[in-house]
Amino acid sequence: MQPPEVIEQLLGAEEIEGKVRELAARITEDYRGKDPVLVGVLKGAFVMMADLSRCIDLPVEMDFIAVSSYGKETASSGVVRIVKDLDLDIEGRHVLLIEDIVDTGLTLNYLMNTLKTRNPASVEVCVLLNKPEARKVDMEVRYSGFEIPDRFVVGYGLDFAERFRHLPYIGILPDEVATGVEESWETE
Ligand code: PRP
Repeated sequence: MQPPEVIEQLLGAEEIEGKVRELAARITEDYRGKDPVLVGVLKGAFVMMADLSRCIDLPVEMDFIAVSSYGKETASSGVVRIVKDLDLDIEGRHVLLIEDIVDTGLTLNYLMNTLKTRNPASVEVCVLLNKPEARKVDMEVRYSGFEIPDRFVVGYGLDFAERFRHLPYIGILPDEVATGVEESWETE
C-alpha cells in the first residue's frame, strides 16, 4: 500500500530529527547522574522512543506500557485500561514517559497518576506533538516538541486504523478520510 497523496506534510523527517535531538539534549542535561527509566506508551511511541533514546547521552533503562483507549462511556473520566504493564519496578526511579502525541491529555494524565502510586522519585512527560486546543485535563508536559493544530495526524508512529505508522514524516489526514466519508487510497 502506498501512502495516499492526499496526506499533506506537516513536519518533515529532518525537522523532526532536529527537534528530537534538541529534546534529548535537554533531557541529558536535566537527568545527569539520575539514570532515568524511559517508558514508551505503545504503540504510537515506538518510533519516538527509538530515536530519542539513541540521542540521550545517559545510561537509561527502557520499558514499555500499553493501554487501551478509553471507551465512550469512560471518555470523560479518562480511565484507561493497562493492557501491558511495566516489567521494571519504578520505586525510587526517575521515570520519563515518552509519547508521540498529547491530545486530550487523558491518557498521559491517567498514566502519570497511576505510576505515581508506585512511589517513583519523579514522573515527567516527553511528547513529540502537543495539541493544546484539544486538551480536556490540565497537565504539565515538561518536554514538548511541536505544538500542532487540532487536526488528525499520521506518521512517525501515529496511525489511522493501524496504517501510516511507518511514514518518516508527520502528515495531516484530510477530515473526509479521517471521518471515513471517503476512502482515498488503494489497498492491495
Ligand atoms: C494515541 C497516542 C496517545 C493518545 C493521546 O494513542 O499515542 O497514547 O492517543 O490521546 P489523548 O491525549 O487524547 O489521551 P492511541 O489510543 O491512538 O493508540 P496507539 O498509540 O496504539 O496508536
